[in-house]
Parts: sequence; structure tokens; C-alpha cells
Amino acid sequence: MLPNKPKTKILVDGGDPNETLRIKSLIGFVDGQTTNPSLIAKNPEVQRLVASGHRLSSQEEKDEYKKIVQSISPLVGDAGVSIEVFADLDTRAEEMLAQGQEMFSWIPNAYVKYPCTHEGLRAAQMSVQKSIRVNITLCFSQDQAAAVYAATKGSREPVYVSPFVGRLDDHGEDGMDLIKNIKKMYEHGDGHVHVLAASIRGVNHLLYSFALNAELATVPSKVLEEWAAKGFPLPDRNFTYRGVDANDKPLKAIPYKELDLNLPWQSFDIAHELTKKGIQKFVADYESTLRRSA
Ligand code: E4P
Repeated sequence: MLPNKPKTKILVDGGDPNETLRIKSLIGFVDGQTTNPSLIAKNPEVQRLVASGHRLSSQEEKDEYKKIVQSISPLVGDAGVSIEVFADLDTRAEEMLAQGQEMFSWIPNAYVKYPCTHEGLRAAQMSVQKSIRVNITLCFSQDQAAAVYAATKGSREPVYVSPFVGRLDDHGEDGMDLIKNIKKMYEHGDGHVHVLAASIRGVNHLLYSFALNAELATVPSKVLEEWAAKGFPLPDRNFTYRGVDANDKPLKAIPYKELDLNLPWQSFDIAHELTKKGIQKFVADYESTLRRSA
């Protein structure tokens, strides 16, 4: 059991309620959960259905997702369960919103995940006006985080933005710099957007997320188990973080940008190749696993 709870809320990054339960007994609590189409495709029950040769209709796919989040929902605390809309590069905001509205009704503690694209932000803007809680995913730049802030201003509920640390690291850039830069930029804001460190690959990412006071971190069970095995260390005053690749070579630093959060969200340069690739990967996992007849 965790002796001292960090200020950063801890979410499980996964799609299996049994895993959430296991982590809950290991740590003593789970603040929330994030899911995505790739993680749902890996859910043991979904895998069993696919392996049995049953071709899932889109309704059945949705029913499975609903069943999974309904099992996870009562296990977690007030950071809720993030449920991601099925969107490809052509999905319009209105369609994402329709999905989001339905997903939001599945459980009392839902956050609807929209991709950090023009249409995703339009959907998020319409959602917060309807008091639907949102989590903007696949964030890879400070401009994108500025646009999330501006598009959701006025939200009565906290809005989450999910910068993907590990995928930036994989790309040769120091993903933790993005967390640091967004936190610094938001010091000039009204606090309505909470930073959810995502795509966490190791205990060091987690500890630096704590040190940077990220409001939330979503963490794969494997990393939480490693953290537990080390005795749940927390960063002390002497904690330092080195962003390095697998060969211990320093990752490219991401410089801070002065951005004005009061500008209209459409004025920020939100295009990012990793956001596009991320959407394509979610679509591929969704289609290849869930729609395949085995
Ligand atoms: C969380 O919301 C994300 O879906 C997740 O952290 C992605 O992590 P990955 O880069 O390991 O797929």
C-alpha cells in the first residue's frame, strides 16, 4: 500500500477492469482510468470474441466498450474514466459530439476523449457548453495545449489535456519538457485545464510528473507495479530528471514558447504529425482487431 499519496492523481492506462482491480489492491486506491481504442482492442473479453471468429458489428463494439467502462467506473475515484470517441482523420466535430454525448451517459464519472485536431477541439468546445467533461488526447505541442485552453474556456468542470510523453521520447524529443512547458504556460491561465501526463513509459516519467505537479498522470499497470516494487518512491528536493533515449543519448530539448492564452483557439498552430499518426494507429487497431472476422 502507498504510504504517502502524491498530489498528482494516479490513473490506470488500460482497458481491463481486472487489471484496475489488481492495481487498486496494490496501491490502495486508483483515482481514475484512461482508455483508448487500442487498449479496448486488447481487452481479454474483446480478444476472446475476436478469436471465436465472431464479426462484431459497430453496435456490438460499442456495447463491449460500454460494458468495460461500466465495470471500471465504480472502481475509481474522482478523476473519472476517460472514454475515447472513434474518429478518423475525416470525422467531423458533429459526429464526434454525438458519440461523446452517448458515451458521457454510460457512466456517472465519464470524461470524453477527443483528439487534439481542429474537429476534435470543435467537438470539445461544443461539449463543454453542454457540461460534458472532456479530455483532449494526442497532444504533442505547447500550441495544441494553448488551443485546448482557449477552446474550452468557461468550462464549469476541469478539462484534461493529455500530452504524450513517451511517444515524443520515441521521436527523439524530450517529452517531459512538454509537460514542464505546458505547466509553466498555464500559470498565466485560470486553472480550468488540468495536465494529464500520458504515454508514460517508466518510473522516472512518473516521478518527474509528480515533481512538475502535473494534476494527473495515467500510467500502465506495468509501470505502477515497478513503482510499487521500488517501495513507491516520491521525488525529493534533490530529484533530477535526465531525458535520454534507450542508448542513454540525451533527447532533444523542447524550448518554451511565449503564447497568449487569450487568443482565439483557431489562431494556434495545432497541426502535428504525431497527432495524425496517433489517430491512424487508433483506427487501425480498432478496425483490425474489432472488425476482423477470425
Ligand atoms: C492515454 O490517455 C493514452 O491513450 C496513453 O497514455 C497512450 O500511451 P502509449 O503511447 O503508450 O500508447
